[in-house]
Amino acid sequence: MTPVMANRISRVSEYYFSTKLKQIEEMNRSGTAVINLGIGSPDLPPSENVIGKLVESSMKHDNHGYQSYRGIGSLRQAFAAWYRKYYRVDLDPLHEILPLMGSKEGIFYISMAFLNEGDKVLVPDPGYPTYKAVTELVGAEVITYDLRAEKKWCPELDRLEKLDLAQVKIMWVNYPHMPTGAKATRALFQELVDFGKRHDMLVCNDNPYSFILNDDPLSLLDAKGSKETALELNSLSKSHNMAGWRIGMVTGNRAFIDHINTVTSNIQSGMFLPVQHAAIEALDHPRSWYNQLNRVYSGRRKRVWQLLDLLHCTYEKEQAGLFIWARIPGETDSFAFSDEILERARVFITPGGIFGKNGVNYIRVSLCSPEEIILESIKRIKQIVQ
Ligand SMILES: Cc1ncc(COP(=O)(O)O)c(C=O)c1O
Repeated sequence: MTPVMANRISRVSEYYFSTKLKQIEEMNRSGTAVINLGIGSPDLPPSENVIGKLVESSMKHDNHGYQSYRGIGSLRQAFAAWYRKYYRVDLDPLHEILPLMGSKEGIFYISMAFLNEGDKVLVPDPGYPTYKAVTELVGAEVITYDLRAEKKWCPELDRLEKLDLAQVKIMWVNYPHMPTGAKATRALFQELVDFGKRHDMLVCNDNPYSFILNDDPLSLLDAKGSKETALELNSLSKSHNMAGWRIGMVTGNRAFIDHINTVTSNIQSGMFLPVQHAAIEALDHPRSWYNQLNRVYSGRRKRVWQLLDLLHCTYEKEQAGLFIWARIPGETDSFAFSDEILERARVFITPGGIFGKNGVNYIRVSLCSPEEIILESIKRIKQIVQ
C-alpha cells in the first residue's frame, strides 16, 4: 500500500509564491525574462564587516560543531542591547530571548508550544499567509479579523470584544504591517496588551519590518504589562539584508520562552556559530547603517509610485516596510490584474488577494529591485497601457 499523507496536509495548499515562481521560470524559458517585483527578499548585501566576521569565524577549526539550543550568550546580549538602543525595551538576555532561524519558523514554534487542537487563533486579513497555514497545520481554528483601509489597517478591538473569545489562545499582529505598510502607534500597542490580558490570550507581534522606511521602530514589549501577555518575533532578514542567513529571535517572559524552547530543542540543534558571530556584528551597526539602507529604498519607492500612477492605482505615501500596497482601479480582481501584467508586460506584481479577502482589490509591489529594473518595468508597462 502507498503511504498516505497526513490529514493536516490537506488543510493547507502549496505556498502561492512556490507555484508562481514555477510559472515564471517556465515563461523565462520562452522569451524575455520576467521582472519579478513580487518577493521581499533584499537584493542588497549585508555589511562587509558582517561578511568578514562570518569568514573569520568559519576559518577557526573548532567553530563547526552543534551549538547551544538557546544560542550563544553574546548573541542574546547583542539582541538585548539592540532592543534597548532602538526600542527602549529592557530584556533579560538569559531568559527572555531565544534566537531562531528567522521569524517564519517562530510562528510555527509558538503555535506548537501554545495551541491544542480546537483552540482558536485571531489572524489578520489581509495578513502574512503563514499565520493561517500554521494554525491549520497544528489543528487549531482560524478566526480572521478584518483590517480596513478606513481604519488605517489597524485592528478594531471594540468589534472583536463582541465575539466569543473564550477559546482564543493567540492573536497575531504584525506592525509595521505586511502587506499594507501600516504602522502601529504606542497607544495601539498598549490597547493590544490590555486586550490580551483581559482575554487571557497571547498577543504575538511579528516585527521584521520596523527599520525599513520607518523613523521610529516600536516594539509591542514597550507597552505596560506586555510581559504578562505578549511575545514578539524579530529578524535580521530585512533590517540587515540577511534573509538567506536565517537569523531571527523571539522575546517574551521567561515561562513563555521556556515553553517555546521545549519545542525548538526537540527540532533543531542550534545555529551555525559563525552565523551567530556575524549576527552580533550586524546588531551592533550604527544608526547610519539603517539610514543608508532607507535612502536606497526611498529612491526606489519614488519609481514604484510612478509605476503605480501608470496603472491608475492609489496608495498611501507613508508606508513602512519593503513593499508598496496600492488599490487597483474599479472592482478588478487582483489576481486577474496581476496575471494580465505578467502575461502582457512580463512583470510580476503580487496580487493582494493572497493575503486574504480584504486584499482582493489591491496589489503589492516590492522594493527589492534596483531603480534600473523598476524603470525597465515602467517601460514595459507603458507599452501595454498606451
Ligand atoms: C510578516 C512577515 N513575517 C515573517 C517573515 C519571514 O521573515 P524571516 O525571514 O525572519 O523568517 C516575512 C517575510 O517575508 C514577513 O513578511
